[in-house]
Amino acid sequence: MHLVVVGIFLALSTLCSSLDNGLVRTPPMGWMTWERYRCNINCKIDPENCIGELLIKNIADKMVDSGWRDLGYVYISIDDCWSLKKRDSNGRLQPDPDRFPSGIKALADYIHARGLKIGIYADMGNFTCGGYPGTTLDTIKIDADTFASWEVDMLKFDGCYSNSTEKALGYPKMSAALNATGRPILYSCSWPAYEGGLPPKVNYTLLGEICNMWRNYDDIQDSWASVLDIIEWFADNQDALQPAAGPGRWNDPDMLIVGNFGLSYDQSKSQLAIWAMMAAPLIMSNDLRTISEDAKELLQNRLMIAINQDPLGKQGKRIAKSGSLEVWVRELVDEQYAVAVLNKGTDGLPKRFTTSLALLNITKSTFGYKLFDVFDKEFLRTVKPETAFDMSINPSGVVMLFVRPATGRRHHHL
Ligand SMILES: *[C@@H]1O[C@H](CO)[C@@H](O)[C@H](O)[C@H]1NC(C)=O
Ligand SMILES: *[C@@H]1O[C@H](CO)[C@@H](O)[C@H](O)[C@H]1NC(C)=O
Ligand SMILES: *[C@@H]1O[C@H](CO)[C@@H](O)[C@H](O)[C@H]1NC(C)=O
Ligand SMILES: *[C@@H]1O[C@H](CO)[C@@H](O)[C@H](O)[C@H]1NC(C)=O
Ligand SMILES: *[C@@H]1O[C@H](CO)[C@@H](O)[C@H](O)[C@H]1NC(C)=O
Repeated sequence: MHLVVVGIFLALSTLCSSLDNGLVRTPPMGWMTWERYRCNINCKIDPENCIGELLIKNIADKMVDSGWRDLGYVYISIDDCWSLKKRDSNGRLQPDPDRFPSGIKALADYIHARGLKIGIYADMGNFTCGGYPGTTLDTIKIDADTFASWEVDMLKFDGCYSNSTEKALGYPKMSAALNATGRPILYSCSWPAYEGGLPPKVNYTLLGEICNMWRNYDDIQDSWASVLDIIEWFADNQDALQPAAGPGRWNDPDMLIVGNFGLSYDQSKSQLAIWAMMAAPLIMSNDLRTISEDAKELLQNRLMIAINQDPLGKQGKRIAKSGSLEVWVRELVDEQYAVAVLNKGTDGLPKRFTTSLALLNITKSTFGYKLFDVFDKEFLRTVKPETAFDMSINPSGVVMLFVRPATGRRHHHL
């Protein structure tokens, strides 16, 4: 797609200071255990859904066979509760041998053989959130070395059982320790979420220099209320958060719950639309073995993914609110844009909304713009900036548009 190619230039010429490990110039995509599988370690009763190598291998196979990998969903990440409650005699973290009988290195080999990347979890503090051994200042180096020796590609570094002083030392120290291993490892920091997520307590300039992505806010749960709460927090604080994001450094509003139990079809579109507008990591936590065709089609929407992965790497913003409606705009490469109109309302009648590109500050193209509906996957019409157009947005649903400068030529192709 045009959208993706042109911008590589722009992305390279943008001077910004980000963690210099060459990774995630566009937001990472993949899958993670936490939201769906939690700390389920009961493999006797629930062998297919417990945190163990069977689940990870099953999902890795699905990521390949069902087309996820080829769309960019390449990280498969183990969250908390993978280790034994004790370090080994050399002071190293060790996986629970009942649940990971082949060990993490063998699992990494399995995942790499399928063209995927493996993520693991640790916690800056005395214990992980689930009560497993934490990574204290004195064990940062050995843990970074252990993960690199297992050929891990991503580390989520949580922050339970710690304090602000220790975190301020530990998060940069882990960044340096990962770098010193010589292995490029995507570094996801939960640090800001533990400090309220906002300046002055959180220094986003520093985060961009030491982490590839970071959790700013609370954990997502399997409900629309949770998705909405996250959207509102990010929008309300966008002036502090939006400039922090860019190639190699991303705000993380947490996992995609599309395909689970809590969201309707329209709400699923809404989560995906706003995550794409926010240039958020697209990390699913769901069951790819049993996911519905509807949810799969939404998560595999190529235009939604291309917008999320736009190489300019500029996070979008909520530019207007009107009653239950919110209007979001994200600038893309090549003078293209994405627009999302979210209806937070729950009164049953779909809301009509009339706007124009001029009202959205999209005015430069002399031939006007072509509008594409992202979820209906269709070309709508060509408009001049002043042309009024309207749409109908379902309760707790969204309309998402891709806006491309018209060339004067007739052909339009998604
Ligand atoms: C380590 O940091 C240096 C300097 O920022 C960078 O050039 C190098 O690519 C980094 N290496 C890894 C493995 O992250
Ligand atoms: C971590 O454990 C040490 C040693 O037991 C203790 O001094 C420290 O207060 C603990 N830190 C936190 C944040 O609980
Ligand atoms: C913070 O945690 C560190 C490491 O556990 C501990 O040494 C220090 O005393 C704690 N500081 C405060 C203010 O609690
Ligand atoms: C934030 O971090 C940057 C980069 O490390 C540093 O230059 C700046 O002084 C810090 N800002 C504050 C307010 O501490
Ligand atoms: C409109 O867009 C221009 C550049 O495209 C930007 O400089 C300006 O700040 C925008 N205005 C508003 C109100 O967003």
